[in-house]
Amino acid sequence: MAQWTSAVGAAQLARLLTSQQDRPAGPGTRRPPAYRALADGIRLLVLEGRVPVAARLPAERELALAVSVSRTTVAAAYEALRTEGFLESRRGAGSWTAVPAGNPLPARGLEPLPPEALGSVIDLGCASLPAPEPWLTHAVRGALEDLPPYAHTHGDYPAGLPALRAMIAERYTARGIPTMPEQIMVTTGAMGAIDAICHLFAGRGERIAVESPSYANILQLMRAAGARLVPVAMGEGLTGWDLDRWRQVLREAAPRLAYVVADFHNPTGALADEDQRRRLVDGARSAGTVLVADETMSELWLEEEVGRAMPRPVSAFDPAGSTVITVGSASKAFWAGLRIGWVRAAPDIIRSLVAARAYADLGTPVLEQLAVNWLFSTGGWERAVELRREQARRNRDDLVAAVRRELPGWEFEIPSGGLTLWVRAGGLSGSRLAEAGERTGVRVPSGPRFGVDGAFEGYLRLPFTVGGPVADEAATRLAAAARLVSTGANGPTESPRTFVA
Ligand SMILES: Cc1ncc(COP(=O)(O)O)c(C=O)c1O
Repeated sequence: MAQWTSAVGAAQLARLLTSQQDRPAGPGTRRPPAYRALADGIRLLVLEGRVPVAARLPAERELALAVSVSRTTVAAAYEALRTEGFLESRRGAGSWTAVPAGNPLPARGLEPLPPEALGSVIDLGCASLPAPEPWLTHAVRGALEDLPPYAHTHGDYPAGLPALRAMIAERYTARGIPTMPEQIMVTTGAMGAIDAICHLFAGRGERIAVESPSYANILQLMRAAGARLVPVAMGEGLTGWDLDRWRQVLREAAPRLAYVVADFHNPTGALADEDQRRRLVDGARSAGTVLVADETMSELWLEEEVGRAMPRPVSAFDPAGSTVITVGSASKAFWAGLRIGWVRAAPDIIRSLVAARAYADLGTPVLEQLAVNWLFSTGGWERAVELRREQARRNRDDLVAAVRRELPGWEFEIPSGGLTLWVRAGGLSGSRLAEAGERTGVRVPSGPRFGVDGAFEGYLRLPFTVGGPVADEAATRLAAAARLVSTGANGPTESPRTFVA
């Protein structure tokens, strides 16, 4: 059961249902009775996360008017959804969306690969690229040269090395967001940053509004911290923030935190425009919500014209950093193995985060901080990021071509940045595909990992981590997995199923 009840108005639901009808029907599809079509439409909206789980649906009469069918048709559709576990009703109180017990199916594909599988399995579990050599080697050599003065200290820097804090602050200032070193804390990756922020702001039972879908590991981190997730469905397309929906959720749920990835969102690759950023910040400020803007992907624009016209950072709309807390990372732009991230916020927030760190990890390793500082101060960072973009662009184009060739029924939009392709898997269950992939030698995380309460069953996330012949082979293995799922041969105990009628 989801933890916050939103309401979907009749007009809104009618609009969402109409937008679905633009999708092509499969070959030979027969038109189902009206009640069945309505029930399937609502079920699909829930599974795709476009209507959250535990959302209150309109009364039968209102929906009947909005979609121009009889009330009996709506009643029959609601009854079918109740029988299938997609709706719960209480007499006199209304009906709420749900997902049936047992859904999501086992959603695999993100746990670290066992060592014995390395080499034989194509791993599409992580959206991270290998180090952009020779820059890692240069940076580590530079760090070793800069190490001696630090070797004379105790080595615990809970806010981060002063030199790196100053350098990160300078980089924000150069982007047009004046920043002092006191506004920066260096963390153990963006994960460490968000963990610290969740613990400071969102104790057990607090609400956090999140994009739906969103980055799987952060959702899991928030759940583990005891937060109650409030999913806000992404709209269609690659600028997918529906600001009316966001503002409604911020107003009505008044979450303590909201978490967004406005730059090449993981998993959809979407890029928020400036107006969306401004409205998000305004909405958060009015609701008293702290908006966490995760900029992990922000340097990974893959088209020159997108890079030239990047919208201003979310923090540009709250430079003091009391409403917007920015999280950055070296993981995607450079290398995840360094585990360097940071937080930019108002100095008092940074002081509280640093104080809390005494009970967590005490600080981030000095040598790795020096390596990032070396990259920033020598210009090596920019050259390494350029290599990174070239590699990601090549991989993206190879993967897109391979998937189009092997799996022409799969649908996706090609993002202009980031590291991930969000794929609607032709009506097949993403969880079943992930399972079958284990047999055909490709590891891929299924859609529900990126949703709240079982949404996105029909999706997979494919990262741009492989290119050339490996991308071809990955697509071939995915196509083999798709055949196993659609022919029912994906395992002795598992019955295959398509979830879309
Ligand atoms: C949006 C987003 N945030 C955070 C992370 C994790 O970053 P880090 O490796 O810096 O902890 C990732 C990694 O995939 C990500 O995509």
